Amino acid sequence: MKKRSVISILDLTVEELDQLIATANDIIANPKKYSEKCRGQKLATLFFEPSTRTRLSFEAAMYELGGSVLGFSEAQSSSAAKGESVADTARTVSCYADIIAMRHPKEGAPLVASMAASIPVINAGDGGHNHPTQTLTDLLTIQREKGRLDNMTIGLCGDLKFGRTVHSLIEAMSRYPGIKFVLISPEELKVPSYIKEDLKAEGIPYVQTTDLEAVMPELDILYMTRVQRERFFNEEDYLRLKDSYILTPDKLKTAKSDLAILHPLPRVNEIAVAVDDDPRACYFRQVLNGKFIRMALILKLLEVE
Ligand code: NCD
Repeated sequence: MKKRSVISILDLTVEELDQLIATANDIIANPKKYSEKCRGQKLATLFFEPSTRTRLSFEAAMYELGGSVLGFSEAQSSSAAKGESVADTARTVSCYADIIAMRHPKEGAPLVASMAASIPVINAGDGGHNHPTQTLTDLLTIQREKGRLDNMTIGLCGDLKFGRTVHSLIEAMSRYPGIKFVLISPEELKVPSYIKEDLKAEGIPYVQTTDLEAVMPELDILYMTRVQRERFFNEEDYLRLKDSYILTPDKLKTAKSDLAILHPLPRVNEIAVAVDDDPRACYFRQVLNGKFIRMALILKLLEVE
């Protein structure tokens, strides 16, 4: 079998993204149809960094497909603690499982793993770089909430420098027509220049601002993010920047009535709990979508009919 890994969202064509979304929607409508599809197959979750949603949704996804799961949830309980390389770990796990989901604090680690593994590797988040399966979750959520993935203004707010979900989401949404990005962050946490270079090269409109309230009325999507404490070099900077944006019901007064508010979670302080009851708050529906789209991705990479 020719193995196919997903390290970046750009490893999937737009047609494949649309197919995955269609499969996820079919799983939501007909879950029983899928309950035995991966019987006898194993997913290994290799998590060298903390996670709640990503790891558990991968595991729930494999169980709901009738498969089983093995793995570890922290580097300390694996041979990485003894100094084993990511490549050797990936090669070893290829002997036990059929597919790997890997999260690692170092950018590029899942790519290295995919080169050593003989089974598909899915990047479940690599440092401040990419997080393609969160982006699949976000795409399914936007499609289900708005009925489309094109022609909209997307505000991304918070830590746009270290937020890997932001980087992958910009790369994905850039491929649909009529998209405009509004990048809302403190000066120190702006989107990395390599991403802005790509937007410029492709002629995709974007603006950068520090002022969330000023741009609120124009947004169709508001993607809030947490300030990524674990990527900061000093605690003082984190403390100064962590509460740069706090979304409250008051700040939503000027927003569109059909705005969709997304957040990859975990939330720290950036969305007040009082916003959760607003029908425009989609972040807990987004969590559920994450399981279904990961089911679709596992089926695709294992080439299950
Ligand atoms: C995100 C991540 O790990 O990058 N969480 C997630 O996977 N849902 C966002 C974050 O940790 O802030």
